[in-house]
Amino acid sequence: MQYPQIERQVIALAGGTGDLGRYIHEELVKDGRFAVALLTRKASAANPTCLPHTTIHPTDYTETSLVSILNTTGATALISLIRCPNSDYIPLHKTFITACLSSDTCKRFIPSEWAGDIEKFPDIPISYGSTRAPIRKYLRELEQKPGRPRLQWTLFNHGWFMDYFLPPSQSYMKYIQGEFPIDVGSWTYTVRGTGEEPQSWTAGRDVARAVCELLGSEQEWEEVTYVCGEWGTFNHTAEVLERFYGRPFTRKTRSLEEINSDLRKYESQPEIEDVGVVEVEQHQVAGATACPKEKTLRQREKYFSNVKFMSVEEMLTVAEREGRV
Ligand SMILES: NC(=O)c1ccc[n+]([C@@H]2O[C@H](COP(=O)([O-])OP(=O)(O)OC[C@H]3O[C@@H](n4cnc5c(N)ncnc54)[C@H](OP(=O)(O)O)[C@@H]3O)[C@@H](O)[C@H]2O)c1
Repeated sequence: MQYPQIERQVIALAGGTGDLGRYIHEELVKDGRFAVALLTRKASAANPTCLPHTTIHPTDYTETSLVSILNTTGATALISLIRCPNSDYIPLHKTFITACLSSDTCKRFIPSEWAGDIEKFPDIPISYGSTRAPIRKYLRELEQKPGRPRLQWTLFNHGWFMDYFLPPSQSYMKYIQGEFPIDVGSWTYTVRGTGEEPQSWTAGRDVARAVCELLGSEQEWEEVTYVCGEWGTFNHTAEVLERFYGRPFTRKTRSLEEINSDLRKYESQPEIEDVGVVEVEQHQVAGATACPKEKTLRQREKYFSNVKFMSVEEMLTVAEREGRV
């Protein structure tokens, strides 16, 4: 979409060098309304981004550093795309919130959620229960404080990244061994539970386009925002892939009993920082990746009527035609 030449709003991206960050960065600077302040722990020489309308800001993520970056760039929104050890998540995000409140211009904030139905399943995946859930509570409590400066925020969710159905060379989303039940490298489909549990998927590129639309929207943000490219089941989508590529998967199984038995081991050891793939398995078999349909479709009409969300088959076609999504 072409927008008239206007002064670009600066959007600060914390962790914008990462996988989702790259999609959001690219889509923001492509859109005539926005410029990017890219926040990273790396020295600027290590970030040779050649994207236009971008400034790079090495930071130690202290409040002083963040407020200075937000004020000097005049950023109007801060988006966290950080994926970090659990113990870093809460302090980092509390500092983001305080820095926005202290800054002169940055009064919109999106924390690093990027999961599924967090309202019906607020504590799944397990690590979200101990990291995202306390930050959601902190943000809600801020609303109750009398005389507090206004911070507009939303928790943005999209289900799984659909990109995991593609070979890693066709997307920015890195493949993490064992996380996704379909491994296109070894052409294996691990049926977790029945494989019929509801899921939703959205391409990283479409998540980024939707974020641009939300930032450009005049409408008040809601507490939770959902987008979705396609709802379905893994059994069905495995068949879509088999038809598309003309090749049957090698199938393995991982029963609900096996998943629950592994989960119980972690319940007795809550001090473990990273429970690994089993929390992703739980997220899947609980149906917690599936964004609530009615709310998602209502929000699509309200904020995202300019975004054409790809289905899995459309994404595979784009990747085949253009080399990547
Ligand atoms: N729904 C899904 O299917 C799904 C899948 C994957 C991820 N996610 C979620 O999406 C979000 C983004 O994930 P991603 O895969 O794009 O992330 P990523 O590429 O793994 O990391 C993003 C950035 O985080 C920064 N970072 C890492 N550790 C940090 C720390 N301790 N302190 C400060 N910054 C740190 C790094 O930036 P610098 O090195 O430049 O500082 C990195 O480039 C996360 O919330 C993740 O949980 C969802």
